[in-house]
Amino acid sequence: LNYLVPATRKEILDILINGLKRQEYRGYDSAGVGFDGSNEGCKECQIKLIKSQGKVCALEEAVKQYTNVCKNKSYDIHVGIAHTRWATHGEPNEVNSHPQRSDTNNEFILVHNGIITNYKDIKSFLEKKGSVFESETDTEVIVKLIKHLYTTHHEQNLSFRELIEIAIQQLEGAFALSVTSIHYPGEIVVTRRGSPLLIGVKSQTKLSTDHIPIVYSKDSKDCKLHEDHRGFISSGKRQEEDTEFHPIGPNKVVEYFVASDASAVIEHTNQVIFLEDDDVAAVKNGVLTIHRVSRSIDDSTVREVITLKMEIQQIMKGSFSSFMQKEIFEQPESVVNTMRGRVNFNTNKVVLGGIKDFMCEIRRCRRLLFIACGTSYHSAIATRQLLEELTELPVMVELASDFLDRNTPVFRDDVCFFISQSGETADTLMALRYCKTRGALIVGITNVVGSSISRDSHCGVHVNAGPEIGVASTKAYTSQFISLVLFGLIMCEDKISMQERRNEIIQGLKKLPEQIKEVLKMDEQINKLASELYQQKSLLVMGRGYNYATCLEGALKIKELTYMHSEGILAGELKHGPLALVDKAMPVIMIVTRDLVYKKCVNALQQVKARQGEPILICNTGDTETQSQANKYVEVPLTIDCLQGILTCIPLQLLSLHIADTKNLDVDQPRHLLKTHASN
Ligand code: G6P
Repeated sequence: LNYLVPATRKEILDILINGLKRQEYRGYDSAGVGFDGSNEGCKECQIKLIKSQGKVCALEEAVKQYTNVCKNKSYDIHVGIAHTRWATHGEPNEVNSHPQRSDTNNEFILVHNGIITNYKDIKSFLEKKGSVFESETDTEVIVKLIKHLYTTHHEQNLSFRELIEIAIQQLEGAFALSVTSIHYPGEIVVTRRGSPLLIGVKSQTKLSTDHIPIVYSKDSKDCKLHEDHRGFISSGKRQEEDTEFHPIGPNKVVEYFVASDASAVIEHTNQVIFLEDDDVAAVKNGVLTIHRVSRSIDDSTVREVITLKMEIQQIMKGSFSSFMQKEIFEQPESVVNTMRGRVNFNTNKVVLGGIKDFMCEIRRCRRLLFIACGTSYHSAIATRQLLEELTELPVMVELASDFLDRNTPVFRDDVCFFISQSGETADTLMALRYCKTRGALIVGITNVVGSSISRDSHCGVHVNAGPEIGVASTKAYTSQFISLVLFGLIMCEDKISMQERRNEIIQGLKKLPEQIKEVLKMDEQINKLASELYQQKSLLVMGRGYNYATCLEGALKIKELTYMHSEGILAGELKHGPLALVDKAMPVIMIVTRDLVYKKCVNALQQVKARQGEPILICNTGDTETQSQANKYVEVPLTIDCLQGILTCIPLQLLSLHIADTKNLDVDQPRHLLKTHASN
């Protein structure tokens, strides 16, 4: 949204397309853009939609063709919305892509991130009223509902914001919405529930405030709709005082950027406002207001304007061929960032500012629960043994979806950790809310500042790995791993019997960045291995003890990126089934490092070799005894047993990257997968 700055349509479209490219990891099977031109009442003020199937570059091409023919006339007021989609309802095609429209005149258009669970009810209601649906999406019901409410409430002269407020009260499920309309030219209304949304504010002069007041409707009861046979009739126009927010004073140049996350707006501004569930924000005549229907006692009366420290270079690919490659190679720095200001290597003191005040409560608990999905879950598996050792507490590690399916008992004196790179994964967030309502202490471990999980937690740790764009998680994993180790070290800081162990781990952490650099030097060798393996159908990864998580995580990376079947196998389970898979033809990777389970790993290696298997080893640098037992091996430096998994997972990150590259697959956006599952 660009106010009082003359700009051509091309300039506005460029901003939108670039924003989409930055968020393409959220979804990429189709994309679309909708925009109005001016408020002059001319034909051009009609809303135009351009949509296309496939990635954002396909939309960019379609937009180019449009801007080539449309005149580069300048307009003073600009509103545009855009979306890149990952299908939940309806196949990826032009009609199903967003913006969705209310009718063929594009009277209202809308983009939506999330899922509307009651869309079938609303759809059948609207169909009875004469609406004709063109797409198979749940989103289309929202925009058609808005039009229906606009028509039925016409006499009440509702503001755009009031109209959207009424509409969202009919919705169940998760949403982040941006809506524009030819009936409200130059205005936009955005709102969220369950899906993230933020507003970037850019101005040529310094903002005059660091917060925006929230306007609450005076009497929330007035806002409730009568469910008159699902007639959606409101009980009348509400009376409210409108506080206007002039971030730099009235009539000054200000631009607003609304997006699901900061990566799309950071190149324009680092001043952002994170919206909360059920906030309805509206921009009209360059003025932003945030409304809520009702206020409960602990609701804040303001939304802070936050200054983000993210740099644009941080989210650019640089000289790397993919974001994933860049992120793998960033690990020597990202692990330092995770420890920065938290670990004092001289005094062996560890502090996690975000949970410091809750440590007494955490120490008193009866058990620790770690709940997450995908790679984040593996970071908890990787550190479980150490946490059991250092905390002397029972540690449960749970997949969020299964934890919810089981209705797992949770107690008030449980401490529940929710680990999530994005901080938005729906299952993890739902599990968080489940535990919160049962009175447990909620600790978030996330990589995205201001994400839903970080905001819904009582306390937490930002892993500080920096933005992770590649769908397959790499640097976030190693940073989560280290964050959990740091937590364990704090838990045992007062136990005299643990001091020696604590100190060796802290000194091990100090050496990690250099050791990661050593592992990354194996890149060429691993690339060669990839060229030998890329035609295989299957790849087994075996190990045990501290390296078991590496097997799971390595196998996940391989399937995510290369579409090859891969399984992480606990070597202790070999004889209980997996051994039947082993023969001369089956590629097997075995992790055999010098720790307490070394002998058992060698035993497993013998078993595999006895079945004509030819394992590729991941073993310690210079361990010739182990290396002599296989034809191929990758060396990683020896570190403290509980940290070894950080070094053993990197060769598998590189291997999956190179196999995918060799197969010419899209490394950053593997098929069918999504970086952030903000809805189910
Ligand atoms: C998706 C991604 C995975 C990720 C998982 C959990 O499935 O494809 O790579 O590990 O979500 O994401 P989170 O953001 O919660 O760590």
